[in-house]
Amino acid sequence: MVAEARRRAAEGHDVVRLDIGEPDLPTPAHIVEAGVAALRAGATRYVAPAGIPPLRAAIADVQRTRGVAATAEQVVVTSGAKPMLLYALLALVQRGDEVLVPDPGYPGYAAAARIAGARVRHYPLARDGAQFRLDVDALRAAVRERTRVLVLNTPQNPTGCVLDDHERLAIAELAEERDLWVVSDEIYDGLRYDDRAASSVAALPGMAARTVVVDGFSKTYAMTGWRLGYGVMPSSLVPAVTALVNESTTCAPAFVQHAGLAALTGPQDDAIAMRELFRARRDALVAGLRGVAGVRAEAPDGAFYVFADVAGLLRAGETCVALADRLLREHDVACIPGAAYGRRGEGMLRLAFTTSEERIREAVTRIRAGGQEGTKRGQEIR
Ligand SMILES: Cc1ncc(COP(=O)(O)O)c(C=O)c1O
Repeated sequence: MVAEARRRAAEGHDVVRLDIGEPDLPTPAHIVEAGVAALRAGATRYVAPAGIPPLRAAIADVQRTRGVAATAEQVVVTSGAKPMLLYALLALVQRGDEVLVPDPGYPGYAAAARIAGARVRHYPLARDGAQFRLDVDALRAAVRERTRVLVLNTPQNPTGCVLDDHERLAIAELAEERDLWVVSDEIYDGLRYDDRAASSVAALPGMAARTVVVDGFSKTYAMTGWRLGYGVMPSSLVPAVTALVNESTTCAPAFVQHAGLAALTGPQDDAIAMRELFRARRDALVAGLRGVAGVRAEAPDGAFYVFADVAGLLRAGETCVALADRLLREHDVACIPGAAYGRRGEGMLRLAFTTSEERIREAVTRIRAGGQEGTKRGQEIR
């Protein structure tokens, strides 16, 4: 869908892009300047595979403010969060082990688990209207003898849901009881719209010893193209993960790490302003979608996606994949079909509010047009 949207836009179509999960905003200037200054100062060589010491220390500091007791030595810096997910699974699973991933959920988890030689089992999120939440009983029921790793994502892509304290406690209990590792992808933590303090499952008693926190700079600091992420893990895992970095990319580029250091230690005003801009866009998109007959949408607590129930827009026999395709080809609005995130995403569309409010309003107008047409033709077909 992303490639097709890009192709149509390149052909000159006025495509409204709600498909892509990256901020449309520039990286804050002081971060860019730090990267450029580092280049000029000669940060152009290999550095230690686990990352430059000041960045590892700054990451550990940030984790401690979130209640995760971590030292710099427990941090491994990678070229984005995505490789860290893969490295964590490669380090943790043996062929035939099972990895639990959410449905709906980010497709990268299942892909990484399969590359690591694991079997993938999906745990369904519970659905209430257009809102999804962790279903602790369903998660518990999904654990098998060979289950080794539970992948969590909070705030979640694509649903925007954020784990609450009760859910985190239940996960910790389960992980302890069934001796599971937890890979906790917290890449959207800087994009939470609730007022609750950030809290990782790794902050709960005993959990730091069985959790790899995965995070990065792409979303919070609009740094997708810089490729910078990290994992925070028990010391016992650090050598294996560091070896994987060493044997794949050698290290994340030094000047990029200096930019990341500026992001964490410099002023947070730009990151906060971006989050508030996303909040306003979220509200505009949800308000717009609620005015479209056949669509149900809830405001997500985090990330920058509305996962909307569009079952009411589908023609007879139409899937959400076909609807997304029709909206792109006939109305030039690009969104991702919910089925791309798992079976429980059928009937949904993921709409990224990573474009201006004006474009969001335009997208809603186009979706409404597509919906009316779908309903009309659906009735004709019926
Ligand atoms: C849930 C989730 N985790 C990880 C990533 C990858 O992030 P990065 O750009 O740091 O590799 C994404 C990117 O879309 C994501 O949505």
